[in-house]
Amino acid sequence: MTTHDIRSDTAAPPGAPAAAGTSVDVDLTGRTALVTGAASGIGRACAVRLSAAGATVRLADLDRAALDELAERGVGEPCPVDLTDLDAAEDVARGVDIVVNNAGVQTVSPVQDFPPERFSLILRLMLESPFRIVRAALPHMYAGGWGRIVNISSVHGLRASAYKSAYVAAKHGLEGFSKVVALEGAPHGVTSNCVNPGYVRTPLVEKQIADQSRAHGVPAEEVVEKVLLARSPIKRLIEPAEVAEMVAYLCCPEASFVNGASLTVDGAWSAS
Ligand SMILES: NC(=O)c1ccc[n+]([C@@H]2O[C@H](COP(=O)([O-])OP(=O)(O)OC[C@H]3O[C@@H](n4cnc5c(N)ncnc54)[C@H](O)[C@@H]3O)[C@@H](O)[C@H]2O)c1
Repeated sequence: MTTHDIRSDTAAPPGAPAAAGTSVDVDLTGRTALVTGAASGIGRACAVRLSAAGATVRLADLDRAALDELAERGVGEPCPVDLTDLDAAEDVARGVDIVVNNAGVQTVSPVQDFPPERFSLILRLMLESPFRIVRAALPHMYAGGWGRIVNISSVHGLRASAYKSAYVAAKHGLEGFSKVVALEGAPHGVTSNCVNPGYVRTPLVEKQIADQSRAHGVPAEEVVEKVLLARSPIKRLIEPAEVAEMVAYLCCPEASFVNGASLTVDGAWSAS
């Protein structure tokens, strides 16, 4: 894979865009971007995409081996970090022009059984850590009069699903935080937006599919079609590169008026 190959490493299923490529013409030469959760899935696709646009990319993740592999491919600089360590999260964010708050995890459980320590961890990783990252990044962005905060939210930032209390709470919180940053950043040339995908073909979702397939004794394809995509009019998972392209768009000059928005990439799931 070269830095211009924005697809994930596995073959795309029918219906997904056939060719590797980019539709947004954005030059990020001279910009530094932080991508959290850069080792896998959407974060990885964003890191590859921003690097292909010329940005110097800080790759923040727990998975050091995957970061080293990306660095070997010239995608960016590995920053192995546990982002639930909030001071470490601030440290990795100082001096960047672009932040992609993406690292996330999922736990599926009814509220009455939801482990409280897991709820706290999800809120810390997916809401408090983005706050600390943005807090540390803004002074440099304000000094330069330009910055881009892109929060990878979810349809679950706009809609709820049963059994995902921590995730839905964190994403709804991220939505509110993003809008406040949009208001404060506007006079300084800094935009803040959420990107809201439906189900994306990443390890996070592949694990949910495998878990449900095991729990209900049904094939994985049936879980995808009848459970995950039940409310999606487009019956396929989204490719990580399709989300990354929206992130690239938000970084281009023509997107300077797109601020405080939540941009769905969900095949019209949330339109229903
Ligand atoms: N996959 C989807 O269907 C989907 C849909 C909507 C939104 N999202 C959001 O997109 C983001 C990325 O999801 P993904 O599907 O690419 O997941 P993924 O599991 O493929 O990647 C998540 C990455 O975050 C890293 N990470 C987890 N905990 C960390 C920590 N404490 N410190 C540092 N790094 C940590 C993991 O190591 C992993 O590399 C998440 O915020 C998720 O909520 C995903």
